[in-house]
Amino acid sequence: MQHVLSAGQFSKEALEEIMAQAADMEEIVKNGGCDMAKGRILATLFYEPSTRTRLSFEAAMHRLGGSIISETDVNFSSITKGEVLSDTARIVGGYADMIAIRSKTPGDAKIMADYSGVPVINGGDGSAEHPTQGLLDLYTISKQFKLGHEPLVISFVGELITGRTVHSCSQMVKQFPNVKINFVAPADIQIPDKYFDEATDTKHFELTDEILETSDVIYDTRIQKERLSPEVYEKHKTAFHFNAEKVNKMKPNAILMHPLPRVNEIAHEVDDLPQAKYFEQAINGVPVRMALIARGLNLI
Ligand code: CP
Repeated sequence: MQHVLSAGQFSKEALEEIMAQAADMEEIVKNGGCDMAKGRILATLFYEPSTRTRLSFEAAMHRLGGSIISETDVNFSSITKGEVLSDTARIVGGYADMIAIRSKTPGDAKIMADYSGVPVINGGDGSAEHPTQGLLDLYTISKQFKLGHEPLVISFVGELITGRTVHSCSQMVKQFPNVKINFVAPADIQIPDKYFDEATDTKHFELTDEILETSDVIYDTRIQKERLSPEVYEKHKTAFHFNAEKVNKMKPNAILMHPLPRVNEIAHEVDDLPQAKYFEQAINGVPVRMALIARGLNLI
């Protein structure tokens, strides 16, 4: 069964295949969609807030001609009455052909996969992983650069300790040769050891002009108030603010990415600069998730 639970489950070849399938899906979207998934149901169980991930999963299923059932707020789920996730999994697996889940607890998507009997996609499990975001990030990078064929410097900036999008994306880009990674964050919010590889990665504690000028991809992230202690959040909440002056130091063909939502870390004056790719990045979520749904349902 084709679950999507972690970035580490994908080989380089599988990632390349998904990128090619996402490109095909982008053409299908341009042509108004298809009926490939007619009669199939996707359940979206979102027990943490989301705009992009849930709506792009649902848009993806609609574009494939399928249907959606949804829990959009844990307060309206029987989980709030004390139901265990394994029971929810067995029930929803009887209602739907596939499940996308977001939750605050690392490992919840795996529980859903173990008990539901249908393919499960991890839409973000707490501070652990967000593999479908990693895939749409990879797709965005691969549309700009010949990933694996040209040397690339990718700098992840911001709150990396609980930043699940960085945990997933950094594992994926490392599958490709010629990629060097900078993790740029103060020591108390740096990348966890399990995602750091001395062969390809360097830790930096400040965002220097040299990093701005030499990176091909800068992947900025939000300082996540909801995951940090109040003391750590207050200390770093204004770190790494990107304005036009800073972005103009980047190479002309470099790209500035962000998983969004942003709060104050990228000024709105940056939005119209050629390096700004974060809105396109979010929209790439639809074809990438179409490919993942179609793979999970054995439609391609
Ligand atoms: N990037 C991302 O996961 O956005 P949402 O929280 O809005 O889904």
